[in-house]
Amino acid sequence: MTQRPFRWGIIGAGKIAGQFAKDLALHKGAELYAIASRSQRRADNFAKEYGVKKSFNAYDKMLTAGVDAVYVATRHPQHCEVTLMCLQAEIPVLCEKPLAMNSAEVGKMIEAARKNSTFLMEAIWSRFLPSLRKVKEVIDAGEIGEVLSLRADFGFNSPFNPESRLYNRALGGGALLDIGIYPLFLAQLILGSPAEIQAVAHLGKTEVDEETLMQMSYADGAFAHLHATLRSRTPSTADIFGSKGSIRMHGRWHEAKGFTVELNSGETREYNFDFKGALGYYFEQEEVMRCLSEGQKESYLLPLDFSRDLMAVMDKVREKIGLEY
Ligand SMILES: NC(=O)c1ccc[n+]([C@@H]2O[C@H](COP(=O)([O-])OP(=O)(O)OC[C@H]3O[C@@H](n4cnc5c(N)ncnc54)[C@H](OP(=O)(O)O)[C@@H]3O)[C@@H](O)[C@H]2O)c1
Repeated sequence: MTQRPFRWGIIGAGKIAGQFAKDLALHKGAELYAIASRSQRRADNFAKEYGVKKSFNAYDKMLTAGVDAVYVATRHPQHCEVTLMCLQAEIPVLCEKPLAMNSAEVGKMIEAARKNSTFLMEAIWSRFLPSLRKVKEVIDAGEIGEVLSLRADFGFNSPFNPESRLYNRALGGGALLDIGIYPLFLAQLILGSPAEIQAVAHLGKTEVDEETLMQMSYADGAFAHLHATLRSRTPSTADIFGSKGSIRMHGRWHEAKGFTVELNSGETREYNFDFKGALGYYFEQEEVMRCLSEGQKESYLLPLDFSRDLMAVMDKVREKIGLEY
């Protein structure tokens, strides 16, 4: 008997949903089975473009579609409500980053996942790239010694538009939640939760952070210097410095295909990896399907406690820069 493909459903027929669909098409054992939008026309157009079998004009219609997992691709302020709806129906969820707007919402989502014994993961796709997985292994093996400091940035120029998702406060706008989460994620992965946080930001006309700089210090004496901006294109690089050597991620670090280890002795080691898919969402999709096939309720690579701690840091940064939603 042949096994049917793993059925994905997507909620929210926006920009990232289309990118996700392209990478999903590369998995032999999976299909994009259903799309739910608030508009039948948008759902139908999406279904036509990406070859989706079922299209719905309301998010709750996904609950009875017979999918194996849902990818929540709405904007940040809808993540919590949509995810809770799926978890209460015991449908596994991969939810876009940030998992929600604040720790209170993240707490409810984690509680619902555990109460309903249903899989939940935040879509921090960079975590699953072969390059970043290897960086973590190299660090855990002590190859660069004790990690003493890290610097990472993520910046692009998004022309000011008060109605856009990036600048509109009601839509969860601001650099921190949209892209600042990436350098914060890297620091959390390598150094854990900070003991002290310093942050400054430029809040623009719409009162969201258009640019945020963060300086973290850790109980073991390490530091992280992190930067996110919607105002200018920055190199989006990451370097990790240890007592025995350092790591430089190649290119834009959140989508890196490799990295170089440079030891204090002068020896260098270069790591390069094959990349599947346009952007790298392939690997997070693979992780969700692997976890579910093995009965895991969360990913060991990106556990829910990690997402909870990451959001707690973002809450503290928001407090420092005076950003409220
Ligand atoms: N992983 C990544 O690399 C990456 C990249 C970009 C964005 N993201 C994340 O993905 C999420 C979506 O980003 P996006 O750029 O795809 O956003 P988008 O295209 O502006 O919006 C996504 C969808 O959200 C739905 N939505 C639900 N309630 C809404 C409301 N009240 N107002 C407007 N839209 C609403 C809409 O779907 P329907 O109209 O179909 O209902 C819309 O198409 C964000 O949380 C973002 O952080 C991740």
